[in-house]
Parts: sequence; structure tokens; C-alpha cells
Amino acid sequence: MNEARVRDQALRLLEQAGPGLAPIVQAGDPVLRAVARPYDGELAAEELDALLALMFRTMEAAPGVGLAAPQIGLGWALAVVQDPGVGLVELEAVRERTPLAPRVLVNPRYTPVEDRTVGFYEGCLSVEGYAAVVARHHSVRLVGWDAHGVPFDEVFTGWPARIVQHETDHLGGVLYIDKAEIRSLAASAGWGGHWALEPVPRTAAAELGFTLP
Ligand code: NI
Repeated sequence: MNEARVRDQALRLLEQAGPGLAPIVQAGDPVLRAVARPYDGELAAEELDALLALMFRTMEAAPGVGLAAPQIGLGWALAVVQDPGVGLVELEAVRERTPLAPRVLVNPRYTPVEDRTVGFYEGCLSVEGYAAVVARHHSVRLVGWDAHGVPFDEVFTGWPARIVQHETDHLGGVLYIDKAEIRSLAASAGWGGHWALEPVPRTAAAELGFTLP
């Protein structure tokens, strides 16, 4: 898909969504499996602002803590993240789920800054109704640009590190299920809904028969 085509798609999406939301693409759509093109200023400033606002609205309404452009069908390396937390003290402490202020990731890349990985349940707005345990780097160094083209180079730790890894993976055509302990896969509508609330998924590992990373 060429750049002009992604731009046209973005403008069409903005027109269709108006003040509303963008439909979230589900697993099986090839756009989620393609490597997103680097975003290189193809949109005018006000068009980009409108697209990012649409992404934030769609993420918050879902609700989710991150949304990558391919999840609304756009093959650009853009993502938004924001995590106000869930208000469950023990869960947040164990997962190091510190609040993540709203931010925009343009052409992000991450590298691990330590060998340690941590395994917790996570889900994805494009794999509706499921969650699974994924081993993620405990800390990563993330480099990229913000919405104004200002470069950043930052270390993220704990849950914010998980979020930026998940979103950056989307831009490479990778879904969390590719990295998940597949036996941990749990439907949130059924019994599996319990597991996401277990601070460390030890009982889930024992009952479902997977090794906690
Ligand atoms: Ni996702």
C-alpha cells in the first residue's frame, strides 16, 4: 500500500467517524499482520491532530490503554497510549501499574534494558474477548517521535513498559498472542475472566497447565 493511499484512507476515516469513533479491526485482517510504514508527515498538522484525537477517543471508549493505527485499519507506525489505572491497589502494586499520561508514539522502537522478563495477563482490542499471559521485558528503552516531530528516548518500567511493547509490536505486524503462553488463553466472558484479576497468575498457571515466565 503506498503512502498516498494510507493518507486517503485516513482522511476518509476522519470523515466517516466525524465526532464519533473508529471501528476497531479484529485479528484476521491483514492490516494487523503487515509492517506499518513509517509515518513521515503525510498529514497536515490539523489532520494529524484530528486523527490522534479520534484514536484517543476510540481507545478510551473501548476502553483500552493503547491503540495502534493498524487497529483502525491504517498502516502507519503511529500509536497512542494512556493508562489511568484500575484502582485495585494490590493488583497495581504487583504489576507495577503506575499511571501512564496520554502520549503519542510515532515510529517507536524498543530495546530491553535488563534481562528480566515478567509474565502477566494482557489483552488486545483487536483480539476481543480474550486474554493470555505474555512474558515481557521488565524495562525497555523506547525511542521515537511525538506528535510534533520532537524525538524522545526514554526508559519505561513495569506496566507502562508492557503497554509500549504491545503497541510497538502492533506496528511490526505482531499480536500479543504470538508471544503468549498459549495454554493461558482465557475467554473473558467465561471462567477465564477470573484470571485477569489474579495479581500474579499462579493459580491460572497451575489450573491451566502453563509455566509462568
Ligand atoms: Ni493490541
